Amino acid sequence: MRERLSYELDQAQITVLDTGGQYCHLIARRVRELGVYADVHPSETPIGELPGRRGLIISGGPSSVYEPGSPTVERSTLEAGVPVLGICYGQQLMAHQLGGHVHKGEKGEYGLAHLEIVKANPLFEGVAGRQQVWMSHRDKVDGLPAGFELIGATETCPVGAIADAGRKLYGVQFHPEVVQTLAGQRMLENFVFGICGAVKDWEPTHQIPVVEEQIRQIANGRSVFFFASGGVDSTVAYTLCLQALGAERVHATYVDTGLMREGETEFVRGVFESLAKGSFEVHDAKREFLGQLAGVREPEQKRKLIGEEFVAVQQRVLESGHYFDGDWILGQGTIYPDTIESGGTKKADLIKTHHNRVDGIQKLIAENRLVEPLREFYKDEVRQLGRAMGLPDELLDRHPFPGPGLAIRCLCHEGEAALERLDEGWLVPVHSVGVQGDSRSYRPVLAIEGADHGKATELINRLTQVNRVMARLGGGGELGAMRVFDSTITEERLERLRRADAIVRRLSVESGFENRIWQFPVVLIPCGEDKAKPDSVVLRPIESVDGMTATAVPIPAELAARMSAEILMVPGIAAVFLDLTHKPPATIEWE
Ligand code: XMP
Repeated sequence: MRERLSYELDQAQITVLDTGGQYCHLIARRVRELGVYADVHPSETPIGELPGRRGLIISGGPSSVYEPGSPTVERSTLEAGVPVLGICYGQQLMAHQLGGHVHKGEKGEYGLAHLEIVKANPLFEGVAGRQQVWMSHRDKVDGLPAGFELIGATETCPVGAIADAGRKLYGVQFHPEVVQTLAGQRMLENFVFGICGAVKDWEPTHQIPVVEEQIRQIANGRSVFFFASGGVDSTVAYTLCLQALGAERVHATYVDTGLMREGETEFVRGVFESLAKGSFEVHDAKREFLGQLAGVREPEQKRKLIGEEFVAVQQRVLESGHYFDGDWILGQGTIYPDTIESGGTKKADLIKTHHNRVDGIQKLIAENRLVEPLREFYKDEVRQLGRAMGLPDELLDRHPFPGPGLAIRCLCHEGEAALERLDEGWLVPVHSVGVQGDSRSYRPVLAIEGADHGKATELINRLTQVNRVMARLGGGGELGAMRVFDSTITEERLERLRRADAIVRRLSVESGFENRIWQFPVVLIPCGEDKAKPDSVVLRPIESVDGMTATAVPIPAELAARMSAEILMVPGIAAVFLDLTHKPPATIEWE
């Protein structure tokens, strides 16, 4: 192993062995919330490459131990004397490797279940009786390995939890890391402190001086250039560099794509100018982006063109300044999950390439010209760092906003079309993206009268030809008289959307609704009355933890009425709808 440098973060005490599940980062975050530094490695990592770990947690994953090539953990890892907790697939893997038996299930079990603790043990210390837990699995363990005993069971899963206390090996079929498992955090706490004997060593803000030293070492006399997006990550990363190197050696350029929300450029300028006068500039690329998008309707095509244009503009900006010489390196706000998703682990090829890892960036990495001060941190921790450095809450608590901007919220249609009458409502032939299981859908939307979320859930489960249900809040005459118009992304339509979005944001901040939701996309669809009013607006307030799943949130009636009335005053807008669909089967964005 290479020598440890004094400015590296301390070594993790707990390692999460990633078997490809979406929950693996959640587990590491939960351990860090306990004040213990945890990291993530591919499940196959030999124990020899994980020196000094006090405990290992094998994550859940979508595989079956019987599928060829499914993720595995080496037997030597389980026999190294380091305590191990296997979660879901992790428990199955552990049983499979140690001589137990896994039953290959046909039907999955997803949702709440009740665990009976059948034997007192250190994992369930302080947790008694019947426990609400979250299950998400197909296979299950039906034969215990030698030395293990049963410690918990549910009605549908007789082997709910197992233990070999002597060897400190534990397995649970349910997910302790999700909030639906009410005593889950207590169980992780029992594992981390009681069983592994870890000590508290993690407080993100205490890492600030370490990260600053890291930045100075990597910069090694050179200056740092940032593309600022106005988002939390790049702003916090920039601020760390500023503190480490001083204002003369840090520069930020903001690319104005013309696809941003109202007032965004001014907001970002304000934040950066208050941080460091003079080292910030706006690069106007509106014409280039709108030119690329002219005539484009298909959502993936939009994304691809915007992504490519970003890279091209960045290249031009770098080449036009003196940033391309050896005295400059690039700074990025890449956070921990981003590094893992794009090449950090073997499972990475399943996930899309992250924009922080495109070819040009790989070249800078190879030349040792990239600094990513947040690469070990999770989003919540980044916010804590930002707060500790005095960044305004207004910036740190912003809702997430997609990189490609309003372009993905401005929907398009080829040719004119009528709405189609169904027994349940009107089928609007504007297609939008949805997600079912791991696959994408692209389907029309059902328009109904009356914002009844329960009814919408019933409809979406029954009608397979749509992936969304929306209710009309105001405007328009007879729904059946509305039409879908031929449309592309134009400056006029973007401006319409920008104004509607600004109205929604103002009213939701004023009313306090903004704080009760996780995100509030506002979408423009080419469904209207006539050529003078060819578009409608869809409101999409959602509740979520991490964007992976989301719940559609009702808007209080009075607020909905005000939003609708103000939006209907924007020229060109015929009606206002509310999206009633959860994710899945819809996505948060419409695209
Ligand atoms: P979906 O629509 O997939 O969105 O349910 C999940 C979350 O991801 C955000 N999102 C993006 N964020 N660049 C980003 O930085 C993107 O290209 C992008 N696309 C979607 C979306 O706003 C939601 O919070």
